[in-house]
Amino acid sequence: MRTDYCGTLGSKDIDREVTLCGWVDRRRDHGGVIFIDLRDRDGIVQVVFDPDGKEFFQLADKVRSEYVLKVTGRVRAREAATVNANMKTGEIEVFGLGLEILNTSETPSFQLDEHTSVGEEVRLRDRFLDLRRTEMQKNLQLRARITSTVRNSLEQQGFLDIETPILTRATPEGARDYLVPSRTHEGKFFALPQSPQLFKQLLMVSGYDRYYQIAKCFRDEDLRADRQPEFTQIDIEASFIEEDDIMGVSETMIRNLFNSVLSVDLGDFPRMPYSEAMSRFGSDKPDLRIPLELVDVGDLMESVEFKVFSGPATDPKGRVAAIKVPGGNDKLTRKQIDDYTKFVGIYGAKGLAYIKCNDISDLAEGLQSPIVKFLPEDVRGAILERTGAENGDLIFFGADKATVVNESLGALRCKLGADLNLYTCEWAPLWVIDFPMFEETDEGWHALHHPFTAPSVSPDELKANPGEALSRAYDMVLNGTELGGGSIRIHDQKMQKTVFDVLGISEEEADEKFGFLLRALSYGAPPHGGLAFGLDRLVMLMVDADSIRDVIAFPKTQSAQCLMTDAPGLVTNTQLRDLNLRLREKPNSVEPKADK
Ligand code: AMO
Ligand code: AMP
Repeated sequence: MRTDYCGTLGSKDIDREVTLCGWVDRRRDHGGVIFIDLRDRDGIVQVVFDPDGKEFFQLADKVRSEYVLKVTGRVRAREAATVNANMKTGEIEVFGLGLEILNTSETPSFQLDEHTSVGEEVRLRDRFLDLRRTEMQKNLQLRARITSTVRNSLEQQGFLDIETPILTRATPEGARDYLVPSRTHEGKFFALPQSPQLFKQLLMVSGYDRYYQIAKCFRDEDLRADRQPEFTQIDIEASFIEEDDIMGVSETMIRNLFNSVLSVDLGDFPRMPYSEAMSRFGSDKPDLRIPLELVDVGDLMESVEFKVFSGPATDPKGRVAAIKVPGGNDKLTRKQIDDYTKFVGIYGAKGLAYIKCNDISDLAEGLQSPIVKFLPEDVRGAILERTGAENGDLIFFGADKATVVNESLGALRCKLGADLNLYTCEWAPLWVIDFPMFEETDEGWHALHHPFTAPSVSPDELKANPGEALSRAYDMVLNGTELGGGSIRIHDQKMQKTVFDVLGISEEEADEKFGFLLRALSYGAPPHGGLAFGLDRLVMLMVDADSIRDVIAFPKTQSAQCLMTDAPGLVTNTQLRDLNLRLREKPNSVEPKADK
């Protein structure tokens, strides 16, 4: 139907006769001349109809926004005064010689350009229109380039693309499962995979050696700006490897990707133990673009009369830490400090103490703070020394259970970085390694990664001291986002049984849920490991999107709903009966639709 895409035309095409197909982005009538900005996947070009081409001029007069047109015309240079430097095709225009209206359009429910100011709900309801916007076109095209580059890179390194099932048994990754009732097995359910974890391990047992898949994963969990209930992983597994091999392969893949798609050199990725990340940044996914650090001051506070500090300082599970904001005295107003106090409250912090360093040579009068009166001068001096504070700096303090201090000051550090624009570079990748195997919860031990991650100790040591054991897991972090994570796996049945045991999974339960894995491990399972990247998060970072929804064609809302198709929806009584299900109560006042 067409000879060219609108956005590809330029000076090289001058005097060519072209046929274009696309949507009317804008139509303007200028003193008897009609200008139509015609848009397709590749961009926009200006088409001009003048009254001499009578028949087409009249037709051009009828077109409205989002009509679908086929235009024939001759490419010509724009006059110098009308060249549009902001437009890719701004040096030329197409002089219209023919026009066909292929379809008309209702007036769109919102403006489709970058000035669109409607709420996301409207955009998601008419997603087919929203996806016409240049920004969304750019995001999804870049996403396609990324997946194609990733596929090439992995295939060149001998990885095989193998599909794994969507209707399966639960694959525990820490979230709730999406369940699908079975019609043919009454009372039984499939679970949608939270990841292909067990299948990729079984492929290693089967000798495929190097596997990858761009895999859909499903997790029914509380949603945040960088989470979706249905998302995509770049999932990788390999046999006869150790940490350095698989971290090397994936680091090279990400470095090449940034190089080829964004012309960015990420350099080498530093490696940081989990304990260091928590202590210096309060987070296992530290944003290393921000130069602020948490500094422990608990030892200085053990005997101060301020209970808020001395309590956590003497509690083995407590932490008292400081963050120094250079120049913070002038940069932060009282109102901002109050706002930050509210902000840390979201993470459970009961307050946010601070000291303004007006004159550090005067420990009696030079420090301004609601808490300084509780601190003897030698403690004041030691705090200044420990944090390296200078005149004009502001020091924040958090005191509580270590988890609360880490979460709240870790988040405050990122917020300060963003609010005060403290970033020292554009990209800061790293590996976080040496994670603990387990964390303790009210219900007992819980695997920090998944239960198939290999510990770096023997089964006996693991059982004797689960809280001390480190795992052979690694996470790749970029700009404070966990981009991917993985581990060397357990390939020894005894070790796998020990881990289930520590997690409080009985032998019967282990056999019922993971019997197939335990059996496979007893038939010559090779040492293996791998990792998975969150593709959506990767694209989100690379296109600098604010929301994960801006890099997914048809995403779900924060409440896990598709506003366009209105999924999830009600089902008929017949369908329920076929599945041997009965609803306990109606989900809302709407009756199930009558059976057809
Ligand atoms: P993990 O659970 O860490 O590991 O997931 C790997 C990566 O997937 C991305 N991710 C998500 N992205 C969007 N929405 C979500 N709800 C979501 N959840 C996770 C993150 C994360 O780093 N099987 C293991 C991997 C392995 O061990 O090989 C796994 O799934 O970017
Ligand atoms: P208060 O004595 O409760 O008025 O608190 C004095 C100062 O300590 C205020 O600036 C509070 O914000 C701060 N504060 C209170 N609790 C904590 C805490 N757990 N961690 C850090 N600062 C706190």
